[in-house]
Order: sequence, then structure tokens, then C-alpha cells
Amino acid sequence: MHTETIGRTSFFSGLLPQKLIKAAHIDDLEINEMKSLKIKGRSVLLCRSERGYFALQDKCTFGKFQLSEGVMINSIIQCLMHGCQYSVETGNVKKGPAKKPLRIYKTLIKEGYIYIKI
Ligand code: FES
Repeated sequence: MHTETIGRTSFFSGLLPQKLIKAAHIDDLEINEMKSLKIKGRSVLLCRSERGYFALQDKCTFGKFQLSEGVMINSIIQCLMHGCQYSVETGNVKKGPAKKPLRIYKTLIKEGYIYIKI
């Protein structure tokens, strides 16, 4: 498999490893838009920022509220319950009360589709 990374998004050619799940078409999301997915029993939040596509756990680490119910502005997701903010690109906490970062999943793009490695 050949992989090329542009910004934070990887593009690849060759056979797809089995752990990659086709999640969406690249045109399904505008910049600063997010989409909630259920993959292998996990709630995954697929987000598009100006730097690419990112997949994170769709659950706030503070109170377990679904982040897909929140808002995304300038690559920051805000949980609606108590206002925690996380970086879409790293999963790191930008504003508490949460202290634990979000789990992130690798994203890859092939032939116009976004794949998530679970
Ligand atoms: S549940 Fe997310 S900030 Fe409280």
C-alpha cells in the first residue's frame, strides 16, 4: 500500500486493509461540518476541518454526552451539556471541565471516499 499525507489527511493506493471502514464520500461534509456514524458498535464522529477529515469518539469524556449534538466552529467541537471544547484535529481538550482527550481514529482517502481505521 502506498500512502501519501497532505496536511493531516492521508491518501493511499493499493489494496484496502481489512480494518478500514468506508465512512463517507469526501463531498458529504462541508468544512466545519460533522457526521455521526456507528462503526462496529462504536459511536464515531467524522469531522471536516480546513486541514482534512478527522474521526473521533462521539462521546464527551466529561459527562458522556454525544458530541454530534454539539457544534463545530473553526476546528473546535463544543459539547452542549457543560461546554467542554476539543480540537477536532488532535482530540485534545481546549476548554474544560473535561481533562481527558477524545480518542482519535486514523482517516484515509481513496478514490473520493473517506475510510476510518477502527
Ligand atoms: S457532558 Fe460534555 S461537557 Fe459535560
